[in-house]
Amino acid sequence: MDFYEVVKKRRSYRVFKPDMPEDDKVNRILEAARLAPTWANMQGMHYIVVKDPETVKGVWKAVGQRKKFAEAPMYVVGVISESGSGTNTNGIKYFPLDCGICFEHLILAATAEGLATCWIGWFNETKVKKVLEIPEDFRVMAITPLGYPVKEKGEVIERKPIEEIVHYDKF
Ligand SMILES: Cc1cc2nc3c(=O)[nH]c(=O)nc-3n(C[C@H](O)[C@H](O)[C@H](O)COP(=O)(O)O)c2cc1C
Repeated sequence: MDFYEVVKKRRSYRVFKPDMPEDDKVNRILEAARLAPTWANMQGMHYIVVKDPETVKGVWKAVGQRKKFAEAPMYVVGVISESGSGTNTNGIKYFPLDCGICFEHLILAATAEGLATCWIGWFNETKVKKVLEIPEDFRVMAITPLGYPVKEKGEVIERKPIEEIVHYDKF
């Protein structure tokens, strides 16, 4: 699929078929995340691939929203420690940005593979860490269910017009 097609096709899916995504597809999307750029190439991101049904249920409970998320066949959880990235000259910590870049690579690759995802930012971090036995110094920054959509959505349209967000030469 052409890159711009992938960008337009990516939508947030909240209802999934029970079919488990194939390993080769999952491996390719993890590879796309692995190749993402990070602060000073520190590559602090780790990905927990959750397929065991009991653990999937545990993640869904820790997310604590949307009944249909419980039916996703699997989840990918992105974690990074603060020391796994840098701090810029303005004091901004880059670990959330590194996570965003890597995880969006994963999300777009999943779209290219015909899989459905949904960025999840609303969850109980303590519970997720407990269920997945994530080390203390790591922060849980991104979660997505992964599966096949029950019904494909249309292209992204609900966005601000380009004139509102793009500035030439000066703000
Ligand atoms: C960082 C981030 C966190 C999000 N968290 C949630 C969430 O917790 N639950 C949810 O249902 N959707 C969540 N979303 C999905 C957004 O609501 C969705 O991307 C937005 O409404 C645009 O719709 P689209 O993804 O279909 O284009 C999140 C998206 C992002 C980027």
